[in-house]
Amino acid sequence: MSTSRNPQRLVVLVSGSGTNLQALIDACADPAYGAVVVAVGADRDDILALERAEAAGIPTFVKKVGQFTSRDNWDHAVADTVAAFEPDLVVLAGFMKLVGEDFLGRFAGRTVNTHPALSPSFPGMHGPADALTYGVKVTGATLFVVDGGVDTGPIVAQTVVPVEDDDDIDSLHERIKVAERAMLVENVGRMAREGFTITDRKVRFGA
Ligand code: GRF
Repeated sequence: MSTSRNPQRLVVLVSGSGTNLQALIDACADPAYGAVVVAVGADRDDILALERAEAAGIPTFVKKVGQFTSRDNWDHAVADTVAAFEPDLVVLAGFMKLVGEDFLGRFAGRTVNTHPALSPSFPGMHGPADALTYGVKVTGATLFVVDGGVDTGPIVAQTVVPVEDDDDIDSLHERIKVAERAMLVENVGRMAREGFTITDRKVRFGA
């Protein structure tokens, strides 16, 4: 990824409470971070993440799958809207939809997602619950470059947390999210400032 533009422009897609988004917004307040959130998009209304964006004065948009005649049309509309904000990097931060071919055709290699499990274990929507059910002793979060699979893309960073004996899904997910936010902020910042390459699935910082 080129780092010629400073700060790098981030478009963040969200579906929920937006704590990862907030961590990015807070980091971007420091010019030395090297990135700025230029827009926040969602697949649903009435979520705290959109309120967080609005409170920070960041433009928002909502594209619901149900507003479109097909999933492909939804994907096309999301891609068009994201493109209008000219992002250098797209960050899926708790965005609970898979982007499609059109989106990936335009933003592959510069879209990252964060998953609350240690890939390649426990892909999909229920990472913390699946880790708990399996009985693993550590889990964590994975930042990856999005490809056409479900949480399968090249790994940028991972962070590990313990699973405690008395954890339930919520307590485990909250512990993961604390580590996940720090990982996201640190590594999106490095991607923005240093650039990165992907060779044979290996993501390395530096142009
Ligand atoms: C994160 O753990 C993300 O990995 C998962 O959902 C959570 C979103 O949290 N897919 P938030 O909306 O950023 O608070």
